[in-house]
Amino acid sequence: MNIRKVVIPVAGWGTRSLPATKNIPKEMLPVYNKPVVQYVVEEAIRSGIEDVVFITNRDKNVIEDHFDYNLQLEAVLERAGKTEQLAVIRQVAEMAKVTAIRQKKQLGLGHAVLCAEDVVAADGAFAVMVGDDLLFGMNPGIRQLVEVAESERLSVIGVMEVEQERVSRYGIISGEEIFPGIFRVNRLVEKPKVNEAPSRLAIIGRYVLTADIFLHLKQVTSGHGGEIQLTDALQLQADNKGLLAVKIHGMRFDAGDWSEYLTANIYFAMQHEELRDDLVRRLKPLLP
Ligand code: G1P
Repeated sequence: MNIRKVVIPVAGWGTRSLPATKNIPKEMLPVYNKPVVQYVVEEAIRSGIEDVVFITNRDKNVIEDHFDYNLQLEAVLERAGKTEQLAVIRQVAEMAKVTAIRQKKQLGLGHAVLCAEDVVAADGAFAVMVGDDLLFGMNPGIRQLVEVAESERLSVIGVMEVEQERVSRYGIISGEEIFPGIFRVNRLVEKPKVNEAPSRLAIIGRYVLTADIFLHLKQVTSGHGGEIQLTDALQLQADNKGLLAVKIHGMRFDAGDWSEYLTANIYFAMQHEELRDDLVRRLKPLLP
């Protein structure tokens, strides 16, 4: 099993982030000096995956453009002798091989993944990363899943423990812990009620999927919210071939949640020495 491609669904409306996302895709909102989606693509690249398949819609071309050359801007920077900035924007254009597939109707995450079938199925297995889930740590999140998927030859999903009152925002799993932090999944429930969740282990937006997921995606009917849920197809995979979950190590920010998004901005700015002191100085008097 060799994971070469990552599917990044980016066709969602971003209603949680309105009005900021009225005309800007939520994946293009900046976290410090880069759009959210660039962090996601960089995580894939750090995990050895350089073929990116965006599942997009008619209003999201700017995402593909971000990973392409902007020759006019390059010429301006070149003439101005701004070689450092020139190198930065060229590096973004060259970091990944990009394919874009239109999801003509937004019928859910499962439907978005199904749109990639013709491009990824022949590889036998592929990664999926949700375009607004940010993960940071020494070992990139998706690589932690790739390592287990390649050795066990099964689909692997990333999970993290969440507070009980937050379980209804996620797909929640239950299973048997077969190695520390690795679970054989028995049950998955998409966005359960707080008192009906089988555990506090939430699916975060990282998956490595074997291609039989497409068979299951075609079997499921609309689930939670009337959408084709990836979680429901994963239940069929768990019942048949088997499915693993890995507790991901690292820090996670949901860029669609304002407090997490703003924290991520401060966290990243803090990594830069020249900004840190100034930021702390300005923030301190604002604290209650
Ligand atoms: C999707 C999945 C859900 C998962 C979540 C992680 O939900 O359906 O199982 O927990 O991503 O971000 P969404 O946030 O797209 O509603």
